[in-house]
Amino acid sequence: MEGEVVVVFTLLLLCLLHPFSFISANMEGDALHTLRTNLEDPNNVLQSWDPTLVNPCTWFHVTCNSDNSVIRVDLGNAALSGQLVPQLGLLKNLQYLELYSNNISGPIPSDLGNLTSLVSLDLYLNSFTGPIPETLGKLSKLRFLRLNNNSLTGTIPMSLTNITALQVLDLSNNHLSGVVPDNGSFSLFTPIRCPVDELNSNRLSP
Ligand SMILES: *[C@@H]1O[C@H](CO)[C@@H](O)[C@H](O)[C@H]1NC(C)=O
Ligand SMILES: *[C@@H]1O[C@H](CO)[C@@H](O)[C@H](O)[C@H]1NC(C)=O
Ligand SMILES: *[C@@H]1O[C@H](CO)[C@@H](O)[C@H](O)[C@H]1NC(C)=O
Ligand SMILES: *[C@@H]1O[C@H](CO)[C@@H](O)[C@H](O)[C@H]1NC(C)=O
Ligand SMILES: *[C@@H]1O[C@H](CO)[C@@H](O)[C@H](O)[C@H]1NC(C)=O
Repeated sequence: MEGEVVVVFTLLLLCLLHPFSFISANMEGDALHTLRTNLEDPNNVLQSWDPTLVNPCTWFHVTCNSDNSVIRVDLGNAALSGQLVPQLGLLKNLQYLELYSNNISGPIPSDLGNLTSLVSLDLYLNSFTGPIPETLGKLSKLRFLRLNNNSLTGTIPMSLTNITALQVLDLSNNHLSGVVPDNGSFSLFTPIRCPVDELNSNRLSP
């Protein structure tokens, strides 16, 4: 009897000591599975995304670190359409979100601003509409931000000038308006194409 109590107590203690290692694995798999259910996938590139597995680390196009937390999602050129989901913001260790050259539409979720480990956000050559989320300015480690060839509208958020790590920024071929900021991290860029009146082509690089 006393033995059982000790065992139960030890299990409870283990859970208390490692609450996140239990929760995060399933949470990240659930987040990615929610994405899968929102996408049309004619080539079945997401077929291995089985939500009943203990974590998403064996899924194709997903890479984890040694703690079984997702650090890469590589789905460029995958013929995907549909929309992104806010749950992507739960992948707290995500460094690379590569979704270029698909046909994904709808808004860029502002929750992507929660991905503070993100190094590369490549959403170019899709059908995204709506504004560039101001929250992306929180991505202090971001080096590559390529949103070109979509149908984004509105102005370039001033918050992006706060991203000191930014090396490549391409916002060209959208329907953006307003001025291109020239302070903060933007002061280090040389515009490649940057017409004053017509802001349809504002590709900037260091
Ligand atoms: C992202 O952060 C915002 C602000 O802290 C929060 O309201 C939102 O729920 C977060 N999104 C996710 C998917 O965790
Ligand atoms: C993208 O989707 C639109 C309509 O949903 C379709 O007309 C177009 O051909 C698609 N483009 C590609 C590259 O699949
Ligand atoms: C991006 O859009 C521009 C303007 O519509 C077009 O000329 C260019 O070919 C597109 N880029 C790619 C790789 O399709
Ligand atoms: C830049 O970051 C600082 C410090 O976090 C913050 O106070 C400021 O509002 C940010 N600027 C913009 C334009 O978001
Ligand atoms: C750049 O200038 C805008 C106002 O024009 C300001 O809101 C923003 O914080 C500035 N960025 C930095 C990094 O100082």
